[in-house]
Amino acid sequence: MLRRALPALRSVKDGATDAARQAAKGDAHFPSLRGHPAARVNARESAEGQARLAAAEEERRRGARPEATTVKEFQVYRWNPDSPGRRPFLQSYLVDLASCGPMVLDVLQKIKSEHDPTLAFRRSCREGICGSCSMSIDGVNTVACLKPVDADTSRPSMITPLPHMFVVKDLVVDLTSFYQQYKSVEPWLKTKEWRPGGARCEHPQSPAQRKKLDGLYECILCACCSTACPSYWWNSEAFLGPAALLHAYRWVSDSRDDYGEERVQALSEGWDKLYRCRMIKSCTATCPKSLDPAAAISALKALHQLRKA
Ligand code: SF4
Ligand code: SF4
Ligand code: FES
Repeated sequence: MLRRALPALRSVKDGATDAARQAAKGDAHFPSLRGHPAARVNARESAEGQARLAAAEEERRRGARPEATTVKEFQVYRWNPDSPGRRPFLQSYLVDLASCGPMVLDVLQKIKSEHDPTLAFRRSCREGICGSCSMSIDGVNTVACLKPVDADTSRPSMITPLPHMFVVKDLVVDLTSFYQQYKSVEPWLKTKEWRPGGARCEHPQSPAQRKKLDGLYECILCACCSTACPSYWWNSEAFLGPAALLHAYRWVSDSRDDYGEERVQALSEGWDKLYRCRMIKSCTATCPKSLDPAAAISALKALHQLRKA
């Protein structure tokens, strides 16, 4: 019975190890992840983690390493506004990774459905599209649905809310100010004239003009970048933060928009909105979509300086 089960287990492990090797090799072996280094790292970590878990299960079944386990501790930040006297604390949950999906969001779903229904967190798409499951995982801001579980069961993983934000409950933070800043850059198409032919709703764009929006339009407003930015921590009311500024640059770069100059002018009225950025690039380092908000801010500053010259 055991002998018949082993080849299946080995093939799971071998397949995952192959996938890990391919992910490490780069774009040629993961064409769908071309130009997305964060996704490639996640794919590799996920494959390596699954291989590690399959190996641990196999060793335990064969008796080679009876202490091998697939159960891992997760320390999750808890705070309930309805218990005002109670300070925030880290609650430990033991989760069997062998019966759980590979991402941190899968772990949270399992905790909520099997261990503790009172745990609060946001999620919707579980595909890295809606941006709602952003949080800090082992000290790094990211979206939980794209973050593979660290399969090392010898050390706990820590899950806390996005840093320097007011907590609504557990892992849910108040994003009101973040969205107001986004709204302040007027993230919609603005035109001054009727287009030729009189069809105001038609805004043709050449492939080259459209290409300028690559690396900008993909932002999912997860707030990982802004809440990783030290300048935003200390000036979160005056400085717009990398996410809002990336969107501002997205509209300045859009060939169909007629208000590029006015947009740059509005950003530079009041030094804090744009120039609080010190180019530390924590924003770019943490973006789960591999975008580069620091470069967008730098381009906005250059546009402003050129206008002044
Ligand atoms: S730039 Fe990246 S980290 Fe920042 S909000 Fe957009 S997707 Fe999230
Ligand atoms: S580059 Fe600018 S926006 Fe990005 S983390 Fe640094 S200071 Fe913040
Ligand atoms: S659930 Fe939508 S980005 Fe994670």
